[in-house]
Amino acid sequence: MLRIFLTVSVLFWNHLAAQNPVGKVIELCERDDCLKPEVVIKDKNYYEFEFEFRQWVQTEVDAEDIESALAIGLEKLFSYARCGNVAATVVPLSAPWGFFGYLENGKIQQRFSVFLRIVSEVNNPPEPTDPTVTLQTGPLLWYYIRTFDTKVDDQQTEERVIQLLKDLEKDNRPFNSTFFGVPYYSTHGLMEIGFEKTGE
Ligand SMILES: *[C@@H]1O[C@H](CO)[C@@H](O)[C@H](O)[C@H]1NC(C)=O
Repeated sequence: MLRIFLTVSVLFWNHLAAQNPVGKVIELCERDDCLKPEVVIKDKNYYEFEFEFRQWVQTEVDAEDIESALAIGLEKLFSYARCGNVAATVVPLSAPWGFFGYLENGKIQQRFSVFLRIVSEVNNPPEPTDPTVTLQTGPLLWYYIRTFDTKVDDQQTEERVIQLLKDLEKDNRPFNSTFFGVPYYSTHGLMEIGFEKTGE
């Protein structure tokens, strides 16, 4: 079963031409070290992605909108990577960067967890000196994902989140609707929006 499943996925990857945003993410991450899904399954008009072990730095930001949350959060995270750590060393980073957002009654809250990926070659990254910055590691996880390749403003990002939420609800997919992730892979708008799949 597993073998069939993997074969189907691999075959499918070959069909992900580079003009497809999912194909672009995979191509980018094969060239540079970045976080790409290990398994991709096409569902209706979204995908199921399996992410393997990953590590990142994160900080919590209260902000009115996504743009200011990212500006405030990323500044702290970059300063962690530029010697703002107990080893006073440079920590190599890679795509994606982005944020987790939180939903209450279908509304996006003004609180964000901004994150930045640490490359997988770094074993035991040094602790941050800023107590508001934390190291995070994540186990294998499945996400429902939609990918985009156009730069949009905050309002359109929110619309994309709500649309995916509604589509997953309509299709009765098992997912955690209390938070979502938005990783960015380029400054030109290559991004994903994802909800964590539950109950496997
Ligand atoms: C959804 O995610 C939140 C935040 O991680 C967690 O506290 C909660 O238990 C999760 N709910 C389900 C149903 O998995």
